Amino acid sequence: MKRIVNQIFALVLTSLSLHLTSYAGSGNNSTSLIGVSSGQANAFVDSLLSIMTLEEKFGQLNQQRWSSDSVETAEYRTAIRNGAIGSFLGIHGAEVTRDLQRIAVEDSRLGIPLLFAHDVIHGFRTIFPMPLAEASSWDPDAVEKSARIAAVEATAAGLHWTFAPMVDIARDPRWGRIVEGSGEDPFLGSAMAAARVRGFQGDDLSAANTMLACAKHFAAYGGAEGGRDYNTVDISERTLREIYLPPFHAALKAGAATFMAAFNEIGGIPMHANGYLINEMLRGEWSFDGLVVSDYTGVMELQRHGIGATPAEVGMAALQAGVDVDMVSAIYINDLPEMVRTGKLSKTAVDEAVRRVLRVKVRVGLFEDPYRYCDPQREQTLMLAPSHLSHAREIARKSIVLLKNDRQTLPLSKEIKTLAVIGPLADDRWSSMGSWAAAGRPEDVTTVLQGIRNTVSPETKVLYAQGCEVQGSDRSGIQPAVNLAKKSDAVILVSGETANMSGEASCRSTLDLPGLQLELAQAIHATGKPVIVVLMNGRPLTIAWLAENVPAILETWFLGVQMGPAVADVLFGDYNPGGKLPVTFPQTVGQVPIYYNHKNTGRPSRDDDYFTSKYLDLPSTPLYPFGFGLSYTEFAYNNLKLSRATMKASDTLKVSVEVANVGRRSGDEVVQLYILDEAASITRPVKQLTGFQRIQVAVGEKRSVEFTVTADALALYNRGMKRVVEPGTFSVFVGGNSVEVLEERFTVVE
Ligand code: BGC
Repeated sequence: MKRIVNQIFALVLTSLSLHLTSYAGSGNNSTSLIGVSSGQANAFVDSLLSIMTLEEKFGQLNQQRWSSDSVETAEYRTAIRNGAIGSFLGIHGAEVTRDLQRIAVEDSRLGIPLLFAHDVIHGFRTIFPMPLAEASSWDPDAVEKSARIAAVEATAAGLHWTFAPMVDIARDPRWGRIVEGSGEDPFLGSAMAAARVRGFQGDDLSAANTMLACAKHFAAYGGAEGGRDYNTVDISERTLREIYLPPFHAALKAGAATFMAAFNEIGGIPMHANGYLINEMLRGEWSFDGLVVSDYTGVMELQRHGIGATPAEVGMAALQAGVDVDMVSAIYINDLPEMVRTGKLSKTAVDEAVRRVLRVKVRVGLFEDPYRYCDPQREQTLMLAPSHLSHAREIARKSIVLLKNDRQTLPLSKEIKTLAVIGPLADDRWSSMGSWAAAGRPEDVTTVLQGIRNTVSPETKVLYAQGCEVQGSDRSGIQPAVNLAKKSDAVILVSGETANMSGEASCRSTLDLPGLQLELAQAIHATGKPVIVVLMNGRPLTIAWLAENVPAILETWFLGVQMGPAVADVLFGDYNPGGKLPVTFPQTVGQVPIYYNHKNTGRPSRDDDYFTSKYLDLPSTPLYPFGFGLSYTEFAYNNLKLSRATMKASDTLKVSVEVANVGRRSGDEVVQLYILDEAASITRPVKQLTGFQRIQVAVGEKRSVEFTVTADALALYNRGMKRVVEPGTFSVFVGGNSVEVLEERFTVVE
């Protein structure tokens, strides 16, 4: 029997290679299946499917986590031989992946190669800034480059698939996973999502240095009530479509080959069983033809959500909803074959899921050369390559946001006599990387303290004290730190959160500086020395006291292996900061959720009117608005002009503005375009970002910046949920943040 099956399979493969040969000979310079029409790839997949047993089919849908336990790994080897595992996560390394691939290809009955997946979120070995930080660069090209380099390194270590980009919009900074996304805005989030997909996947998914991207977590995971991870989401279809879905759609349009279902429910339906959003919207309305993977044990968790009494029931619910691959739960492989045999689950649904997995394996070229991605030599030479590190430094400094700089406290002179570097994060290599640091190693990191030491003049004395811990109540380090400050000409205070205080399951109910860090800051400030605060954190923090009292604040998030050099470049003026906030900073946690693109309400907040939408004990404005960030120079905005005063929906509108550098250094500015639909059939946000450009402006230079506004930017989902442009008056706002803007108006006519 085995021989017969092998012969059939050999025939399938021969016809595939014949096909490939004829394809290559046809003058087309690609020999990979990715260049083959989907009909032909589908024929191969169908032939393969026709010789698979039910167990082998479910094997393709079964993803397991690689383990360091030898008993477990022995079990996994046997399962691979039996064709019972289709992919692994949490594994990398050219040798280990080659070894497992060999078992799959040479020892299993059908020889179907494995997929190796990992969370390559912001770099593989060369760790780049966290995604929220990279979003602060407002530079999609630079972000694309980070993802490209991440893929180059990760694929050399045997990986085919990253569980990134995370494209969840987050409007609640208590939610720890805000750090993994691009902030609160769908337009910026979409630009970043597309950039990352392009970076990971490149132009040719079958190339040895490109990998499958995975848009996650579909959908509205960031809408968790109370900012508590995994919590219930209950939002309207409008909010879903307007706010949470656009980055997913952008990822899809950029070619994202896979999607991951989210842990949350929406309005009573857990995403892992949400056939409407996965099958009807994603696959139907949006025509997505790639695969959907569950989140970690997401299928099993459906039982806890309470939508099925047995593993088999929830397994069927997930598969029927369109979740193709079961990550870790092992419910598909263990419980579903029987359901097919007893006629409870249709074979067609299973075949469809298997087809999607096989198609993805074809797309990455695994049937051509299953070992293409595990190359020990590439692995050795590519990690931390000089060009990777130089990009890590470049994107890190582009991601820094200058929040305050009174009396030009910054930049500091490199010749400063004595400089105190204080704070529990100043020399924390591990936190500098942020969470999800893939194959990143603390020893690869240059910390802020080291970066400063490497930058100042040989005569400068750099004194260092930890002061206190990030969390904890030990005061004994505060006085020594104060003594150090007294001996210094300036103090750099590195404060914030450790890497594991944001990220998955790391939510906080307060956004204050944790532990004794504010007390430390106050004690240092009381010395009268100029204090420059360098914030390292994974979410907006409530820093009203600092904002009021210290002269300079840099938001640096977690910047990766080149954190120290990048921060030092900015502190000492080798780089003029130009990053802008991708998320609003509240004054206190009680203002949350607070975001710039809110609705007006019937009673917009007014200090002089009691019966308006506000708190008695809080201002209505944030501490720092969306899009905010200073520079060492000044920019003046003038001459906002529209190419027409009226337009039809089919026309385009040009919006231009002059941006002049009126300060004394050249620098980058992120020019932002917002739009308001003044009166429509449904309520609209007070402002919506619809364009941005990060530009360089030399001292004294005046640059004209032009945006093109098309119907898409003006469209809304009407009451029937149809996307239309409604006639009426629109406002256009342009400026360097979401508050300080120039304004013009135009009218859309029928
Ligand atoms: C996370 C995903 C991640 C997966 C695999 C889950 O806990 O929610 O974002 O991709 O683990 O590591």
